[in-house]
Amino acid sequence: MNRCAIDDLRDVAQLRRRVAAAAASLRAGGLVAFPTETVYGLGANAFDDTAVRRIFAAKQRPVDNPLIVHIANRDQLEACLPVGYHLSPDERKLMQTFWPGPLTLLLPAGPQIAPAVRPGQELVGVRMPNHPVARALIAEAGVPVAAPSANISGRPSPTVADAVAADLEDAIDWLIDAGPSAIGVESTVLLLEPDCARILRPGGITQEMIAKTIQRPVLFAADVFDLDAAPLSPGMKYRHYAPNARVHVWWGEEAAIASAMRAFLEGEGDGADAATTIPALIAPQDFVSRFEWHLPPVRMAALPADDYATNLAHALYDLLRRFDQVGATDILVYGVDPAHGISTAVMNRLQKAASGRVRRVE
Ligand code: TXA
Ligand code: MG
Repeated sequence: MNRCAIDDLRDVAQLRRRVAAAAASLRAGGLVAFPTETVYGLGANAFDDTAVRRIFAAKQRPVDNPLIVHIANRDQLEACLPVGYHLSPDERKLMQTFWPGPLTLLLPAGPQIAPAVRPGQELVGVRMPNHPVARALIAEAGVPVAAPSANISGRPSPTVADAVAADLEDAIDWLIDAGPSAIGVESTVLLLEPDCARILRPGGITQEMIAKTIQRPVLFAADVFDLDAAPLSPGMKYRHYAPNARVHVWWGEEAAIASAMRAFLEGEGDGADAATTIPALIAPQDFVSRFEWHLPPVRMAALPADDYATNLAHALYDLLRRFDQVGATDILVYGVDPAHGISTAVMNRLQKAASGRVRRVE
């Protein structure tokens, strides 16, 4: 694997020179891991079926799970769609408002899109990322880039380059490191239906933001909150975002969260066996400073309490991976109310990482 680091994100011409070798690799059928504003992606030329199939092999990804195609400009959008396709007014508005950014739109797939990108699907997911390195790479490659998150399937998505290397070092051609991803959870996946818009995966662009932009109601697919519901998006049926440690989430009233965590650590109810449990904690700073349970610093994440949900989104995947590395058996998470904003995305990922061990406490 070739690796390069980019620290100055302002000079786009220089960026394009810096990523030229990785872009050439993409054109030649290579696999390139690159930063986006959500998580790191693992890219291949979306028009090259052989290259796209290498993504599935590298990630050990189920072959029926479709990929998102990343574009850098309007011409590349057209190249993804059927010849002469006219965008609907809502499609146009969503693109104008949220691109570049963390919104994936499901659109009719054009003939150039490699079959492996959209196994069994009529539609193809398309997004224009809002990250200068991603944009420079895709523009320089000159082709749309199919890219899932750059992790082994089922593991937490990578939000730093070292997490990509840990999972995929021997399976890919290039890794471009541009520091931590700003948002930390994946893009919103949106399906426009005749009478509504349906969020198949909540993400950086929230229900409220979409509802303000288009006229029709914006609903969530049933499986966003209910683990037992049949998923509309093929990818959502697989085990996801999960570290090796068990994840436990409590949300609601702060004192109740504290006592539920304490009870768990003391082995009450279905709590931990103190002799074998190696706990880790993710919570707001002020909660941690009041929580009397002693944990070593490597197993404790005290996140700034201001805008905690945003900080949790940003840090979550990296913390899950770090706590695995230090041998934690159980990760206790101070959760957030999933009803609004970025909290919906964070709690959706936590619910999957925790296999349902999410409790509301009062
Ligand atoms: O933020 C992101 O979206 C990141 C970065 C790299 O852009 N990518 C990402 O890709 O999260 P991935 O492959 O890990 O997740 C793609 C999700 C899956 O749940 C998949 O099932 C859904 O999008 N998806 C893709 N194409 C689809 C389609 N044609 N129909 C329904 N769902 C689709
Ligand atoms: Mg993924």
